[in-house]
Amino acid sequence: MTSLAPSRSVSSTGGPVVTRTADDLAAALGRSGGSRRTNARTALVPTMGALHAGHAALLDQARDRGDLLVASIFVNPLQFGAGEDLDRYPRTFDDDLQLCAANGVDMVFAPTVDTMYPGGRPQVTVQPGPLAETLDGTSRPGHFGGVLTVVAKLFGLVRPDVAVFGHKDYQQLVLIRRMVTDLCMPVDVVGVETVREADGLALSSRNAYLSAEERRAALALSRALRAGSAAGPAGVDGVLGAARDVLAGEPSLAVDYLALRGVDLDEPPASGEARLLVAATAGTTRLIDNLPVLLRHGTNEGTPQ
Ligand code: PAF
Repeated sequence: MTSLAPSRSVSSTGGPVVTRTADDLAAALGRSGGSRRTNARTALVPTMGALHAGHAALLDQARDRGDLLVASIFVNPLQFGAGEDLDRYPRTFDDDLQLCAANGVDMVFAPTVDTMYPGGRPQVTVQPGPLAETLDGTSRPGHFGGVLTVVAKLFGLVRPDVAVFGHKDYQQLVLIRRMVTDLCMPVDVVGVETVREADGLALSSRNAYLSAEERRAALALSRALRAGSAAGPAGVDGVLGAARDVLAGEPSLAVDYLALRGVDLDEPPASGEARLLVAATAGTTRLIDNLPVLLRHGTNEGTPQ
């Protein structure tokens, strides 16, 4: 691990500076004197570690948008429900540091649970509102409250000008944008297209849990989304029908939901941009994925994510 360089963003060895406490972070950001911001434009990529090429794409976008690139690595207990995979969530800190170094990260903030939640669960948390009660929120009650609370805390600690999140967790991205707007947080939120394996599987730290057979079955998710997206000109029923047909061909997947929504996860429009989202369990691993759809507008080739 690289040692902390006071008030500088780059360690003496050229890798990212690693900080673990709020004080060390403030010192490394040059804010120990209490000044609110450095002159550098700070870009933050919040992560739970187990970094892969999808995270590298987030870092890439963040690097272009800031002078100082900070990645946080924190497996946030608050966003895991009882019986979920908090204990077995992959922790690959040394590899994560290497990926950060290779992707130009200046500073890694890797707090302990005690640093983030001194005294245990915080008394004041972010209430994510009704959007958190649909889609993933139905199967994961409390999840988005935990996500928004930790993101709000990271924003408070790092005070980024810009923060970058993946489209892969689309509901999370929409909720973070909502929080930033509703709570007047001075952060630009940037969403980045999902990175996929050559065969279509969306990259996810949880893919590590999949057996070869489960991984094969999981490919039905991206196939279904692609089929649904291609059926955009056929309207809402056509999109859902096309995606359902693909999922029906893979009975080993336990589908949690398949939903077509507007881009803000409201009702889908009769025509225009929408989002097709799916969640399913392969073996014991819950997977999510989504794609854009252009409804009733000719073909949707080239629709940006
Ligand atoms: O997307 C994730 O990895 C996490 O939900 C986040 C945003 C880092 C909060 O813990």
